[in-house]
Amino acid sequence: MKDHPYAIEAVNIVKKFPGVVANDHVTVRFERGRVHSLLGENGAGKSTLMNVLYGLYSADEGDIFVDGKHVRLKSPSQAIRLGIGMVHQHFMLVPPLSVVENVMLGTRSKHEPILDIEGACRKISELAREYGFDIDPKAKVMTLSVGQRQRVEIIKALYRGAEILILDEPTAVLTPQETRELFAMISTFKNQGKTVIFISHKLNEVMEISDSIVVMRQGKVVARLAPQETSQVELARLMVGRDLKPIPEVNTRFGETVLEVSGLTVRADTGVRAVRDVGFELKSGMILGIAGVDGNGQTELAEAVAGMRKPEVGRIFFKGKDVTNTGPLPRYQMGMAHVPADRMATGLLPTMSVGENFFLQEFRYPPYCKKGILDIGAMKKRADELIAEYDVRTPTQSVPVKVLSGGNLQKVILAREISRNPSLLIAVHPTRGLDVGATEYVHEKMLEQKKRGCAILLISTELDEILELSDVIAVMYEGEIVGVRNRHEVDLEDIGLLMAGAKRDVTKAS
Ligand SMILES: Nc1ncnc2c1ncn2[C@@H]1O[C@H](COP(=O)(O)OP(=O)(O)OP(=O)(O)O)[C@@H](O)[C@H]1O
Ligand SMILES: [Mg+2]
Repeated sequence: MKDHPYAIEAVNIVKKFPGVVANDHVTVRFERGRVHSLLGENGAGKSTLMNVLYGLYSADEGDIFVDGKHVRLKSPSQAIRLGIGMVHQHFMLVPPLSVVENVMLGTRSKHEPILDIEGACRKISELAREYGFDIDPKAKVMTLSVGQRQRVEIIKALYRGAEILILDEPTAVLTPQETRELFAMISTFKNQGKTVIFISHKLNEVMEISDSIVVMRQGKVVARLAPQETSQVELARLMVGRDLKPIPEVNTRFGETVLEVSGLTVRADTGVRAVRDVGFELKSGMILGIAGVDGNGQTELAEAVAGMRKPEVGRIFFKGKDVTNTGPLPRYQMGMAHVPADRMATGLLPTMSVGENFFLQEFRYPPYCKKGILDIGAMKKRADELIAEYDVRTPTQSVPVKVLSGGNLQKVILAREISRNPSLLIAVHPTRGLDVGATEYVHEKMLEQKKRGCAILLISTELDEILELSDVIAVMYEGEIVGVRNRHEVDLEDIGLLMAGAKRDVTKAS
């Protein structure tokens, strides 16, 4: 059967959700032994199609063929038996369990009821070596970084004998180095004659890794191309249906100091000092970009500034007031906004509606609450405005927010935080998971805020984003600010060396 040219085929797939046709007669055939990229704007239906191929959703119409054979997928376990593995956009691991326990979950052993943990550990280590990963099978998943967790997900699929590997936006959360390692693993997998379906919003990656590119828009396949016959500009146009605009230069005069941080030392959950003696000043109308490889203390710094994590040492002044010992709510009331790194855990309440998620704090105050009485009508009206303004793709505002596509979840948080016209916006990976069109829109919105006089602390692992938007760039490495540069004195090699810890300024600039 394995001589069939297509590893997996989706023919005329229709998948509807209340109010949306997520897949509208989609036909795609994935040749064996190749890397296929699936591109498309947020909400185009990419994850839905993959979930159908993985047996997680059953299609309303259409057929699936694996190795040329018609199959009816009723569950992921059936898909796994057919050699299909999937790493989801939002991971599905159990954090308190170890790597080996997570990998073995849901698999059946020949020796049941005896579990061969040691044997599984050996197999995991072998797979890891084969694909160039470094992984400790006994480590608890909660102690692993995002990149390491992703490897566990991949190992889990390989352990179950995947011949077809679906990777839903795997690089959105990876450092450039981890992306290189993932690409090496993808190549090994492909060279063994196996098939990869790769979803990404990063067009340069798609051009580099793919043998073929499928573009979706509004539930339909709109193009199928080879990387040699297209360009990033054309792909962007196919995805969003228009040309992208270059980011304008926005020069503003800086006003008074909005945020002043001095001598800040913050511990991470693991107890290590994630932020060490960090100090900076951020003025009204200024964007301070914190560059650095993920995991160098950026998240902890953002959480400390937002009041979600207590610093061990140091002081934080917001609008001239010492807020070091206050929690998030008073800072929020003073005009601080926060787009957190983990949208599902801290940015949103997943089971509440899209509309309600816009007012998680706001509902307490006028115009939404007067004399203790909630004005539901006012909130509904405002929610519809925000949905339209930020182009949040949702059937209605009353669906639970968790059913939105990854990029649209991010838009809900951004709409809520930016539309408050804050004095300080802490934006951590603000465009993670956003398509190129939505990214452009969010950048415009941030620049609009800057023009208004908002001070922005931009934390991102996307160096391009930092360089395009920031007035001042600070590089964090192992919890410290190792260099500060002005927008116009940036030299890429210099920034790269700072990010890699290969260089640091002797005297810290301010
Ligand atoms: N479980 C669900 N219930 C209701 N609607 C859903 C569900 N899953 C997806 N949708 C809707 O289907 C559409 C397609 O979503 P999908 O997640 O497939 O998009 P995507 O292309 O993966 O986007 P992104 O790039 O943002 O991840 C969206 O409008 C989404 O809101
Ligand atoms: Mg998706």
